[in-house]
Amino acid sequence: MKRILVVDDEPMIRDLVVSFLRGPDISVVAVDGVGAAKVELDRANFNVLLCDVNLRGESGTSLLEYERVNEAQTAVIVMSGVAGLPTAMDVIRRGAFDFVAKPFSSQELCGSVQKAFDRSEKMRLEEARKMELELLVEARTVELEVALSESNHTCDLTIEALGAALNLRDTETERHCRNVEMVSLDIAREWGLTDTQMLRDLRWGALLHDIGKIGIPDSILRKPGPLTAEERKVINTHPGMGSRMLQGIEFLRGAAQVVRHHHERYDGTGYPDGLAGETIPLIARIFAVADAVDVLSGGRVYQAAISPEDVRAEISRSAGSHFDPQIVEAFLRTHSVSEGPLR
Ligand SMILES: [Fe+2]
Ligand SMILES: [Fe+2]
Repeated sequence: MKRILVVDDEPMIRDLVVSFLRGPDISVVAVDGVGAAKVELDRANFNVLLCDVNLRGESGTSLLEYERVNEAQTAVIVMSGVAGLPTAMDVIRRGAFDFVAKPFSSQELCGSVQKAFDRSEKMRLEEARKMELELLVEARTVELEVALSESNHTCDLTIEALGAALNLRDTETERHCRNVEMVSLDIAREWGLTDTQMLRDLRWGALLHDIGKIGIPDSILRKPGPLTAEERKVINTHPGMGSRMLQGIEFLRGAAQVVRHHHERYDGTGYPDGLAGETIPLIARIFAVADAVDVLSGGRVYQAAISPEDVRAEISRSAGSHFDPQIVEAFLRTHSVSEGPLR
C-alpha cells in the first residue's frame, strides 16, 4: 500500500486532491497545516508528501527540512498558486521532488505523484539490493575467516609434525627452537618489522631452521666429541637440505629463507651461498642473531651458559662480521637475555 500525505489549508483543494489520488492500493491522509502534518509524519512513513506553500501564515515548504521526511525518504511535491517559476526553482533547490502549479488537472497531479512513486520504488529496490550485498559480503567474510583459521591451524599442525620429526633425531632441538622463535620476534619488533607475513615467516623459519638435520647421519649428528673437517662439511649441508625439503610447501616459502640462510654471515664468509650484507634475507639476518643468543645463553646442552652481559658483549663483538650491525643494535635494545639464561 502506497501512502500519501496532503497538506493544504483549503478544504476544497484537500477534497479535490484526495479524490484525484485515492485508489485501491493508495491511502491518502489529508491535513490542514504544518503542525498536523508533523503529527502524521511522526506516526507513519509516507511515500509522497503533497504540500501547499501558503498555509495560513505558515510555509508548507518548511516541511522540506523536517527530519522525518528525510528519514523516511518521502518525496515532497510542492503545490502553489502564487509563485510560478521562482518558487518552483527555490523548492527544487531545497530538495523538493517536484512542483505543481495551481490550478492543476488530475492528469498533472497524478503524473507527478506517479513519478514520485517510481523513484521511491527504484530507491527501495536499490536499498534492498544494497542490503542483500552487505549480507552477502558479511557471509563471505565469515566463511573466509573460518577457512583462514582452519588453514592456519593446518599450517601450525604441519610445522609441528615437521618439528616433531627432527626432535626424534635431535632431542635438544625443541627447546632451542621455542627459544629462538621468541628471541627472533623480540628482535624483529625492536628493529621495526611490522609486516605480519614476514613475522609469521620468521616464526615458522625459527621453528624449522635445522629441519635439514633430519638428513644428517646419527654418527655425525649425535657424535659426542669434536667433528672432523669432513664431518663438518656434512653437517654444513643441513641448510640446503632443509630448504629443499620445504621447497614444495607454498606456505613455507618465506620460512624456507631462514632455513636456507641461517648460517650466512654478514661479511659473506658463511654458508651455503656465501651471501653478504643485505643480500641475506632480513628475516635470516634477524634469526642468525637470535640463534647465537640462545646458544650462548645455554640453549644447547653442550654449550655452557654465559652471563647475560657476556652474551650481549659477545654478540656486539660480531656486529659487522657475523651479524648485521643494525640488527645487533636492535637486539641490544631488547631485554631478551637480561633475565638470565633462556629455558
Ligand atoms: Fe643450523
Ligand atoms: Fe639453532
